Amino acid sequence: MTPLPASLKSSWQMAALSREVGAKPLSRTVAGVPLVLFRTEAGVSVLIDRCPHRNYPLSEGRLVEGTLQCPYHGWRFTGDGACVEVPGCALADGQSQRLAATPVVVMERHGAVLVRLDGAASAPLPDLTDWSAPGHDHFWWSQGVWRGRALDALENVLDPFHTNFIHDGIIRRSTRRVPVRLSVASGEDWIESVIEQPQPDLGWMSRLLEPPRDRSRTRLNGPTTVQARWEGPKGLTLCVTVFFTPVTETSLMPFACFTTPKGRGPGWLKERAIRLFLDPVVRQDRHALSRQLDNIERFGSPRFLQGPGDLLGARVARLFNGERIEPGHEGPFDHQL
Ligand code: FES
Ligand SMILES: [Fe+2]
Repeated sequence: MTPLPASLKSSWQMAALSREVGAKPLSRTVAGVPLVLFRTEAGVSVLIDRCPHRNYPLSEGRLVEGTLQCPYHGWRFTGDGACVEVPGCALADGQSQRLAATPVVVMERHGAVLVRLDGAASAPLPDLTDWSAPGHDHFWWSQGVWRGRALDALENVLDPFHTNFIHDGIIRRSTRRVPVRLSVASGEDWIESVIEQPQPDLGWMSRLLEPPRDRSRTRLNGPTTVQARWEGPKGLTLCVTVFFTPVTETSLMPFACFTTPKGRGPGWLKERAIRLFLDPVVRQDRHALSRQLDNIERFGSPRFLQGPGDLLGARVARLFNGERIEPGHEGPFDHQL
């Protein structure tokens, strides 16, 4: 299997929803690194999930007076990792740091808890439009750990041609298609595909739920953050921001934030409707990722061929690997979706 690239450590990766992190320690793995997350009055803290004393998982501990206590011998650690108590012993000067757990840089934004495994606390988040914009309704949707490769999940969400088949009848149809114009724009660390179509998609969900659409655009901010935006004559109708956090080489955790302009019904109703209707679509993609991985494992390694519809081509993989790509613009190309 292809090892996870170093780019995952030198980028912000979403580890949890804010609402998942409380006084009970939470165990998460990000890019192969086991972490423990917990919340104190000072905010969210993240430590490597291994007690420096005897390797016990700290996530099995509990919070005591704003510190995380290891269940094995009761050592206590602050959110910065400093060891503040070794039960039964006095701590001499300097021991607090020598016995420290390993802290991880963390940031909390708009309901998301993000980590930087390389410790670069001042690195900016990728440029995300509207995901936290006022005047909009927002909700988060995450469904735990998926079986599959994060790179394949990125390709899936950026690829419109699978929607006619895997989501046949729901989003688009395999037997009847509509003409579209596809174009691609890219910068050094992002790539975006834009679909313009005069007719709506022919799947029942699109016909039932979607307001008039001029274009949709899906953008990958390397290495792993995707924003899909649907725009109508009056502007944005839906924006979905997804953090595809690789857990291991063969599993991932997608965290999706849905943004809609206020109006068109209360936020909770839109959330219910979107979850209800998108659930089968998500299950189809989840199943596809798992089957792809089954076959990659059967053959021992992945292999890719770029077809005429794969406009983003190998650039998704390059961004995932932390490489820079050539800024530019291609298209429009006429296709049928
Ligand atoms: S292993 Fe954690 S306190 Fe000993
Ligand atoms: Fe899909």
